[in-house]
Amino acid sequence: SAPPLIDGFDRKITYLRLSVTDRCDLRCAYCMPERMKFLPKSQVLSLEEMHQLALAFIKRGITKIRLTGGEPLVRRDMMDLVRALGCKLGHGLDELTLTTNGTQLAEFAPGLYAAGVRRVNVSLDTLDAHLFADLTRRDRLAQVLEGIAAAKAAGLKVKINTVALKGLNEAEIPQLVQWVHGEGHDLTLIEVMPLGEVDGERIDHYLPLPAVRDHLAQRFTLTDIADTTGGPARYVRVAETGGRIGFITPLTNNFCASCNRIRVTATGQLYACLGGAEKVDLRGALRSGAPDEQLAQALDEAMRIKPERHHFDIGPDIAPAQERHMSVTGG
Ligand code: GTP
Ligand code: 5AD
Ligand code: SF4
Repeated sequence: SAPPLIDGFDRKITYLRLSVTDRCDLRCAYCMPERMKFLPKSQVLSLEEMHQLALAFIKRGITKIRLTGGEPLVRRDMMDLVRALGCKLGHGLDELTLTTNGTQLAEFAPGLYAAGVRRVNVSLDTLDAHLFADLTRRDRLAQVLEGIAAAKAAGLKVKINTVALKGLNEAEIPQLVQWVHGEGHDLTLIEVMPLGEVDGERIDHYLPLPAVRDHLAQRFTLTDIADTTGGPARYVRVAETGGRIGFITPLTNNFCASCNRIRVTATGQLYACLGGAEKVDLRGALRSGAPDEQLAQALDEAMRIKPERHHFDIGPDIAPAQERHMSVTGG
């Protein structure tokens, strides 16, 4: 059978993040500018091509696929792809999952579960409707909360992703912990990363997570736990709530040594690292006369160019580490 994906630093790649669209119905201020320029639709892969790509990855030992965006659920007929990939569960694929902003989860949660999805990550930075409208530039908190409730009702395990933002949701983090754990979900806190231009300055709201953790430790009893979801978060258990908090700390403590993932954009560009420019064009391979061989070669190339680590750095006058936004590579 086809050889597994192992990079130049002996890391085995088993986790594919596939961005199905760079478009989104929100405009989170740390993610994109209000007038975000999206990729031309003509360059975006069809859902059939994405399916074909995913199968090629599964043949090479990818066992976890996370569909991302932008907002994956804004792509028309997205559930066709979810269902097609769901058929691979138990046949090479161990987990099929989704990262979503939740605005349309109320509609799609039952279908996701029926297709074999068991877990979703939902972005939610605040429970305050005014702050939500400021942060996302859209007044959609109610829909997101409905979406989260629908996911739970459908039997999906939910993890809430919260970007920690100084002076914005900072004071609310302990309440978020209480609410999220009270609902039976996990919470992951994330450091803001310098990806793409936004309207303001990210540095103004950069909040290092070690400080957040210390602050939470004054209020809650936190114990490190070895659990992992295969993603970058390091988890603690909160004695008072029984729930888990994950910390994603690319800036204060990078986790690149244990990196197991690659990401593909909606236009079929494979980025070897979230924070790097190294990429391989899979669309060309897919549309060539010999897609199987060309894709196999492209994946080998990706393993050769995957860098040892990202070089994110945040400082007073630091430009984005990469021109491209998180919404292009799907995080
Ligand atoms: P789990 O399967 O629940 O562990 O998910 P995950 O954390 O892998 O995925 P999710 O889409 O929820 O991502 C949460 C945050 O982690 C996003 O902000 C991602 O950008 C970030 N993230 C995921 N992978 C990487 C990575 O390789 N490097 C960095 N710096 N951040 C990452
Ligand atoms: N830095 C950190 N996290 C970001 N996200 C989007 N842009 C950034 C950024 N620049 C988060 C979203 C979502 C996850 C996939 O990525 O809030 O939870
Ligand atoms: Fe959309 Fe996610 Fe970016 Fe917010 S962070 S604008 S929900 S892609």
